[in-house]
Amino acid sequence: MKTFFRVLVALLPLVSTTRALNSTYTNPVLPGWHSDPSCTFVPELDNTFFCVTSTFLAFPGIPVYASKDLLNWRLASSIITRSEQIPLLNTDYSRQSDGVFAATIRYHDGILYVITALVNGGDFTAVKIPFFTTTDPFKSEAWSDVKYIENPSGDIDPDTFWDDDGKVYMATAGVHVVSIDLETGAATEAVRVWNGTGGPFPEGPHVYKRDGYYYLLIGEGGTELNHSVTIARSRDIYGPYESYAANPILTNRGTDQYMQTVGHCDLFQDANGNWWGMALATRSGPDWTIYPMGRESVLFPATWNKGEWPILQPVRGKMEGWQLPPPTRDVRGVGPFVDESNSYEFEPGSTIPEQLVYWRTPVPSSYIVSPPGHPGTLQLSPLKSNLTGPASFRPSDDITFISARQTSTRFNFSIDISFSPTKAGEEAGISIFLTQFQHIDLSIGVFGDAPTPHPPVTANIPKSWMNGTITLQVSTANNVTYEFSAASSRDVGSAKILGTASARIVSGGTGPFTGTLVGAYATTNGGNGTTKAYISRWKYTPVAQQIDFDEYVPARNYSG
Ligand SMILES: *[C@@H]1O[C@H](CO)[C@@H](O)[C@H](O)[C@H]1NC(C)=O
Ligand SMILES: *[C@@H]1O[C@H](CO)[C@@H](O)[C@H](O)[C@H]1NC(C)=O
Ligand SMILES: *[C@@H]1O[C@H](CO)[C@@H](O)[C@H](O)[C@H]1NC(C)=O
Ligand SMILES: *[C@@H]1O[C@H](CO)[C@@H](O)[C@H](O)[C@H]1NC(C)=O
Ligand SMILES: *[C@@H]1O[C@H](CO)[C@@H](O)[C@H](O)[C@H]1NC(C)=O
Ligand SMILES: *[C@@H]1O[C@H](CO)[C@@H](O)[C@H](O)[C@H]1NC(C)=O
Ligand SMILES: *[C@@H]1O[C@H](CO)[C@@H](O)[C@H](O)[C@H]1NC(C)=O
Ligand SMILES: *[C@@H]1O[C@H](CO)[C@@H](O)[C@H](O)[C@H]1NC(C)=O
Repeated sequence: MKTFFRVLVALLPLVSTTRALNSTYTNPVLPGWHSDPSCTFVPELDNTFFCVTSTFLAFPGIPVYASKDLLNWRLASSIITRSEQIPLLNTDYSRQSDGVFAATIRYHDGILYVITALVNGGDFTAVKIPFFTTTDPFKSEAWSDVKYIENPSGDIDPDTFWDDDGKVYMATAGVHVVSIDLETGAATEAVRVWNGTGGPFPEGPHVYKRDGYYYLLIGEGGTELNHSVTIARSRDIYGPYESYAANPILTNRGTDQYMQTVGHCDLFQDANGNWWGMALATRSGPDWTIYPMGRESVLFPATWNKGEWPILQPVRGKMEGWQLPPPTRDVRGVGPFVDESNSYEFEPGSTIPEQLVYWRTPVPSSYIVSPPGHPGTLQLSPLKSNLTGPASFRPSDDITFISARQTSTRFNFSIDISFSPTKAGEEAGISIFLTQFQHIDLSIGVFGDAPTPHPPVTANIPKSWMNGTITLQVSTANNVTYEFSAASSRDVGSAKILGTASARIVSGGTGPFTGTLVGAYATTNGGNGTTKAYISRWKYTPVAQQIDFDEYVPARNYSG
């Protein structure tokens, strides 16, 4: 018996110094369309974590989210807010999934660097690599003008890595490595260093140096159900790389988990030295047919002991993690916390909230806050193109559409609208928007009887509603159905449900990489009308997040 006790005592100190997964939290931590996350921890900027996500045709491009506790993430700034930073967005990029692809964010010598890839016409062989820098990530206008790096591999998903000797390397999908000069933009010849473990699309590489090894972490299998994370290491950045025998080190493929498509991850350490990773995931189950929010960002703890390969904890809705930093919302930024309720009054003298996004760069005159005679409204001026565009769709056919991400499974969104159309084709309303070819709209307008591919539901507006504003609302009837209703704003009890639509309409298809936006639009449908729409009392209320087939949690930042 004595021996037994001695052993136990000897073990005690060991147990108390072993790190424990003793916190709990739920995923996704960046809910809503937040694809291809890259994150870094910056002790010098008040112990703040920063993440960027990909935005394709959405503008502003590349949001930067900041957090001090890994759970409350706030929009710190947006990197691409000036059309000169991305010159061709409104003329080229004909595919709905073109534009700004995955980015990498890194901090080096007092500067934050974000490098990304521009894909035009679905061509993954001649990708342009822009990068941006700032010393103040809490102001959108502080992000630099665009600079370009040569891209010998032509491929997507650039990473930046500073070696101990000051040399800078860029890895791209494929997987290729080049040495780059950030001053001149020059790059050396591409060396194909690893093909992954055999799955299609070895991509999203990140390089980390630990204990004399270069570790190459990549996504593999495509960003769908077969998505996975694999890793290789080498003593030389150009290889040869040794693939880890236990690959993949993170995946939900072939499982019946609710969270699917887990991959494209980045790893970072917190102030205590604990490792974490952020990856993308889709809340769809293996059925993978209904996932309106697309690819979202999920957090998981990792263990990376000296000389060893990292161990990543599987992604679930309910997680156990390392001790989290104390919860705080003392984070600077230009926008709200993700998943927060938002209401906008568009007061005179105010500007358009910075987290609202457009599809391609907006025509500024289409969006005027509190114009003369209409205080407390956002004036939307119609353009000839509707959300789909004209029959002969061209990227340069601008649309009037302003929106925010759908950030929770269950939510309510409503606006009040004052709009008195008179000419055929004039239309304004709200939309659940994935792409210009996949959107669900509720609008007021003068409609002809021309047959449309998807016959709309139409109803006459009661006369008694016509002398005031009308409230247009979309709510979630359940986890897979949107419900559209309208009411006289002075009598919410008058609400009429006008239709329901499956979220399948806004899942995948022409928007395989993006997720739903919820917003307001105006158009003349090619007609000659000029009637403006006045939007007021914009309100988005997150209600609940689904985190497993039969489990919901309240939206994290729900604030009434
Ligand atoms: C969690 O573990 C850390 C050590 O890694 C310890 O400092 C902390 O007190 C623990 N927290 C709880 C709630 O047990
Ligand atoms: C990757 O695959 C290509 C094409 O099959 C092959 O030529 C190349 O040698 C491979 N590279 C590595 C590093 O395995
Ligand atoms: C996943 O991989 C399997 C086996 O290779 C293949 O049959 C399937 O089509 C892939 N699924 C997707 C969505 O890529
Ligand atoms: C959009 O406008 C075009 C005319 O420019 C018209 O042919 C098309 O039916 C409209 N689409 C929708 C969804 O209203
Ligand atoms: C959301 O909208 C529904 C339907 O109009 C309503 O019953 C519910 O109370 C609303 N919930 C919140 C939190 O606003
Ligand atoms: C609008 O019309 C309704 C019914 O016709 C009436 O009850 C209401 O007082 C009017 N409101 C305004 C603001 O004119
Ligand atoms: C627009 O105005 C022009 C010139 O007045 C006219 O020819 C054309 O038919 C109008 N188009 C529509 C759709 O009303
Ligand atoms: C919706 O919820 C049901 C259970 O209530 C679940 O079986 C289904 O998988 C969910 N669908 C999605 C797309 O989340």
